[in-house]
Amino acid sequence: MYDLKAIIDRNNTGAAKTDKEFIKKLLDLNYYDDTISMWVADMDFACAPEIIEALHKRVDRQIFGYTTQTEEYKKSIIDWYNRRHNMKIEEDWLVFSNGTVSAIRNCLRALTNEGDGVIIQSPVYYPFKREILETNRVAVDNILIRDENNHYTIDFKDFEEKCKDPNTKMFIYCNPHNPIGQIWPKEDTQRLLDICAENNVIVFSDEIHCDLIREGESFTSALNLKHQDTLIVATAVNKTFNVAGFHITNLVIENSEIRKKLNDYTGSISISPYALETTITAYNKGEEWVNAVNKVLDENLDYMDKFIKEKLPRIKFVKPQGTYLVWLDFSDYPEKGQELLEKIADEAHLILESGSMFGDAGKDFIRMNIACPLSVVKDALERLYKVFG
Ligand SMILES: Cc1ncc(COP(=O)(O)O)c(C=O)c1O
Repeated sequence: MYDLKAIIDRNNTGAAKTDKEFIKKLLDLNYYDDTISMWVADMDFACAPEIIEALHKRVDRQIFGYTTQTEEYKKSIIDWYNRRHNMKIEEDWLVFSNGTVSAIRNCLRALTNEGDGVIIQSPVYYPFKREILETNRVAVDNILIRDENNHYTIDFKDFEEKCKDPNTKMFIYCNPHNPIGQIWPKEDTQRLLDICAENNVIVFSDEIHCDLIREGESFTSALNLKHQDTLIVATAVNKTFNVAGFHITNLVIENSEIRKKLNDYTGSISISPYALETTITAYNKGEEWVNAVNKVLDENLDYMDKFIKEKLPRIKFVKPQGTYLVWLDFSDYPEKGQELLEKIADEAHLILESGSMFGDAGKDFIRMNIACPLSVVKDALERLYKVFG
């Protein structure tokens, strides 16, 4: 029913993923006419046709004035998270934000002070640290422990010590975790929540990849566990439905004091008519599309697993449990860091991201986004094989 094989030309749309100058400036990599871009975390699949149709209808209404978060809007979010994740969200707990990263920045500013410590678990989505530093807070790194099979675990002893430091005020959790692709077991999440609650540390649980998980895997939101008092959960239409350009994030905050502090800081953030229509349609009618996307991601990863084992065994690869991001261990190759990325960009004509962007702990890795048609994944792997096989 959904065409997830089509290759859609994103050039000249301002898409960050394929914008030559932007890529040069941000990543210092060359983008050629036949380059395949597999870096920033958005998908190359056409948006759900249900959403496109709703947006067409909205455009036909011709007026795009101030828009409110209607009952239908809130209900669509509540119903989705109840249906898909058994989360019991109350209407009052929803706080709209223009994106997840800006929500993090606002929470840092509203709920902590300059100089306060904020825990992250690297290697992790790099804007977490950037936002902490840019708001003059201190990034406190509870580095993940990696075993010889590239399976990561949480260093709880170190986490607890860091939480006990009276300067520590917030923890930014990533579950499913970008870039390593692991879904944290609910026992781990509970333990982290317990430690944070004991030490009065606010938890910002970024769960925006939670709808994009592999067949057979399950995800438990922090909201379904004990100690909600210090919890902020980020959900995002952005990620699930590939509409990041519309900036639609909804925070779930049960604690009214935290909500008030955040709202006092941001003032009212208004939603665009596109965000309203997209959210309602996505959550009410987009389920089959998400299921279809997850199926393609499963197929892409199965293909990749086999290909790498057979043809590129020096690259170590663990199938992610969640996200559409692949964390490739290139430690067996002599090229490192930017030199490696340049080789990939100039010889394989692929734009990938250096693991070191996600913290020193990621320096031997490369992140690859496989949310694209299988034919593109195949082409990209053949290109890697030509250079590294
Ligand atoms: C874990 C995580 N959080 C936040 C974001 C950014 O979200 P937004 O576009 O809503 O700011 C991303 C994007 O890749 C992400 O992977």
